[in-house]
Amino acid sequence: MGEYTIQPCTMEHVQRYGEIYAAAFSGEPWNDAWKAADAEVHVREILEMEQAFGLEYVEDGEVVGFILGSSMVFHYGRTFEINDLAVDPAYQGRGIARTLLEACLSAMREQGICGVHMITQGDGFLPEFYKRYGFKKENKVILMGLDMDEEGDGSEAVDNADPTGAKDPAPAVKARIDLGRSFITKFADDESIPETYMTDQELKKPQPPLAKAPMTGNIIDLPNDFGELEIRTDFLGIINDRKSHRVYTDQPLTLRELSYLLWCTQGVKDVRGKSYATIRTVPCGGARHEFECYMAIRRVEGLEPGLYHYLPMTHQIEFLGESPDMGGFISKSLQEQNWALKSSVVFYYSCVFYRAEWRYGPWAHPVILMDSGHITENLYLAATSIGLGGCAIAAVDPEACNREFGLDGVEETIFYAMPVGTVDPADRESEDAFYAFVREEGL
Ligand SMILES: Cc1cc2nc3c(=O)[nH]c(=O)nc-3n(C[C@H](O)[C@H](O)[C@H](O)COP(=O)(O)O)c2cc1C
Repeated sequence: MGEYTIQPCTMEHVQRYGEIYAAAFSGEPWNDAWKAADAEVHVREILEMEQAFGLEYVEDGEVVGFILGSSMVFHYGRTFEINDLAVDPAYQGRGIARTLLEACLSAMREQGICGVHMITQGDGFLPEFYKRYGFKKENKVILMGLDMDEEGDGSEAVDNADPTGAKDPAPAVKARIDLGRSFITKFADDESIPETYMTDQELKKPQPPLAKAPMTGNIIDLPNDFGELEIRTDFLGIINDRKSHRVYTDQPLTLRELSYLLWCTQGVKDVRGKSYATIRTVPCGGARHEFECYMAIRRVEGLEPGLYHYLPMTHQIEFLGESPDMGGFISKSLQEQNWALKSSVVFYYSCVFYRAEWRYGPWAHPVILMDSGHITENLYLAATSIGLGGCAIAAVDPEACNREFGLDGVEETIFYAMPVGTVDPADRESEDAFYAFVREEGL
């Protein structure tokens, strides 16, 4: 280490601070895409504040690092916030940040500052660095942020995203990705949930109903003599033939076929205990069966086109009413995937959250996603077994669906759909056209 001095920051060096800041924060662990000019504005604006305080580290006549912040009065005294601590990457790893922080803290003590705080990374080496100086994570407050771009067109995320994963995407997108990852990884072991926490089931709170009661009096019995259907029995053949179908013929489904599909996906075979759980044709975590099935039916023999709801306890359906604009609804609800307009039935699956939360509390939600996959897989296989075809759809518009079926979107929301229709092997080419881009783009 050469000769160094620590002295107050000065506006004369603001350009240099900007360069250091941009270089430091463009590297690990931040990887932020700073331009030196923007960083200079950032530093200048802090320095211009009346209560700003900063120190620069000068080595052999050159500024190589700085610490900068400002103080503010609170009812308990004046506190200082460290906004920036940056060291030129060429000089990092030599204790310069430590020297600057120590000098800043001792200046704060001299000035009678009663507390120092800063925002830093939630994990990694930075919190450890600050902990060595007595900093602790604040438990009483949290950092809240509103991203004003969130309603934007997403272009920021696209610009910043690096498909190799080498560079972090925009912060708001990264936060969502992190949330998604922790949703999967932390659900079984989440430190934020106190050890003393008990689920509502453990607290012996009343259990929610096993299925939703009919919403209307328009109830229709379903045929359950499936022996009348031509059902394939070559299990491996069905498994191998299952595929997503997005091209359908005009041929309607029969009511028996619809009944068979509903039975295979949500049918109640038994009730465990007096009314502890339903045992259905699909497996489900804790046998909670937290789903309801709604349908937009366009072509099923004997049924008026319109909106329907499956009643699994009695294997019936109820007619909820006509849809004023069925085509418009299906299109909007499936994010304009208009190939679905030719299907005979679009199955919409809702989740009644508390049915799973009662038992699993904060751990319910990943299980809900796991469970929902069983339903559509059975729907795929059941459809294949009677010569029908369908395609699972995650890209639904829950708001449009909930509005149409009269759901509140809070306790119960539609989140998954699957159009099903009659299919013809002669449409193979039209089906393959959905993946023409794979060939065209040489993927
Ligand atoms: C959870 C899930 C969501 C899906 N969402 C869509 C969708 O929104 N649109 C679509 O055309 N296909 C969707 N698919 C179908 C997949 O693209 C399809 O399963 C995949 O390409 C494999 O083809 P295969 O089902 O013919 O084997 C979805 C499938 C699943 C399981």
